[in-house]
Amino acid sequence: MIFQKAHHLKGEVIIPGDKSISHRAVMFGSLAEGTTEVLNFLQGADCLSTIDCFRRMGISIENTPDHILIHGKGLHGLHKPGAILDTGNSGTTTRLISGILAGQPFETTLTGDASIQKRPMRRIMEPLSMMGADITSLHGNDCAPLRIKGAPLHGIHYHSKVASAQVKSAILLAGLYADDTTKVTEPTVSRNHSEIMLNYFGAHVHTEGTTAAIHPEPRLQGQKVCVPGDISSAAYFIAAGLLVPGAEILIRNVGINPTRDGILKVARAMGGDITLLNVSHNGEPTADLLVKHSSLHGITVEGEIIPTLIDELPIINVMAACAEGTTVIKDAAELKVKESNRIDVMVNCLNAMGCDIVGTEDGMVIHGGKPLHGAVIDSHMDHRIAMSFAIASLIADGDTRINGSDAVTISYPNFYKDLLNLTH
Ligand code: S3P
Repeated sequence: MIFQKAHHLKGEVIIPGDKSISHRAVMFGSLAEGTTEVLNFLQGADCLSTIDCFRRMGISIENTPDHILIHGKGLHGLHKPGAILDTGNSGTTTRLISGILAGQPFETTLTGDASIQKRPMRRIMEPLSMMGADITSLHGNDCAPLRIKGAPLHGIHYHSKVASAQVKSAILLAGLYADDTTKVTEPTVSRNHSEIMLNYFGAHVHTEGTTAAIHPEPRLQGQKVCVPGDISSAAYFIAAGLLVPGAEILIRNVGINPTRDGILKVARAMGGDITLLNVSHNGEPTADLLVKHSSLHGITVEGEIIPTLIDELPIINVMAACAEGTTVIKDAAELKVKESNRIDVMVNCLNAMGCDIVGTEDGMVIHGGKPLHGAVIDSHMDHRIAMSFAIASLIADGDTRINGSDAVTISYPNFYKDLLNLTH
């Protein structure tokens, strides 16, 4: 797909449902008794992979344009799937479902696409094995395909080396089936959607500092879940609104959970004009965001804030490329093990557009302010790379061609349509 400089960016955009929350609604709804209704479910390929996996384990899930209905069968209602579970491109599906499968009285094999088969699974294999499950990486490389033999599980207190909500959630979900309390301590706090939603469904999850603890064998009850808009998807429009001269856009119904809102803090620290309107604190907090074109300056992004904006670092790189001065990103080695190696890919692609950026062991250094020009960009079939460069193209001279632009179906199928509405 070819993209060009934008001369205009105005209007409103309604952001589709949060990917992390949509996955969890399907999973917890499947393990609950009774029906769960999900509104504003994200119809992205990743969340559809989660639906497919639970259908294959005997859960009836109705997916209509209005809502999805999950007819849960309780904690012990899943049955052995007839075939290998396919988690597609979804790390969240793969890791969280592994925690659930660890506690089932059957054996399952799961795998996903080429990217999933390269992503590290040792981080969940280790704690789930400590709890008593038998997990094997079939190619012996600590990646999927994984064979998981469920077993009676023991409660453990696990100290994770990475701040990862996928690791934390996998352990908490296995903890539903354990013989005692299960605790996870992480170096800094990662997104807490599992803790919030598990409690909403009737589980007992307690959080203190960077430790989350879950009591086993709760009775989960089906609920109505209203999924807020995904701040990770809103991030592309936040950047577009800040970067395109004269822009003013209203981004509706965005989840602003404090474990996810690092992009807002960073954009403001860079000089971005963002106003929160209609803030609501019902369950997961939400707001409308009014974003106006701003002159940005470089900053350092490091430490505890990193897990709260880990998925937004590619688009923060684009903002930094257009900011005056230097932006330094540190403590973000996790970028190397996302859907693509996002340090290498961002450095190569932004260099190709004329940006002065160098990669480091755990991030990048960007000397911003040089004008960007069009280039040929390979998304590496990474949705966040494709969307980041669609936004970079709005402020670049000449054409930008993005190969693999259809990767956006993973988290934001209507992304280009929504973008076009604002630029025309
Ligand atoms: C997610 C957690 C994060 C994030 C991913 C979604 C989740 O991954 O990057 O897009 O829904 O729990 P890690 O747990 O690997 O940091």
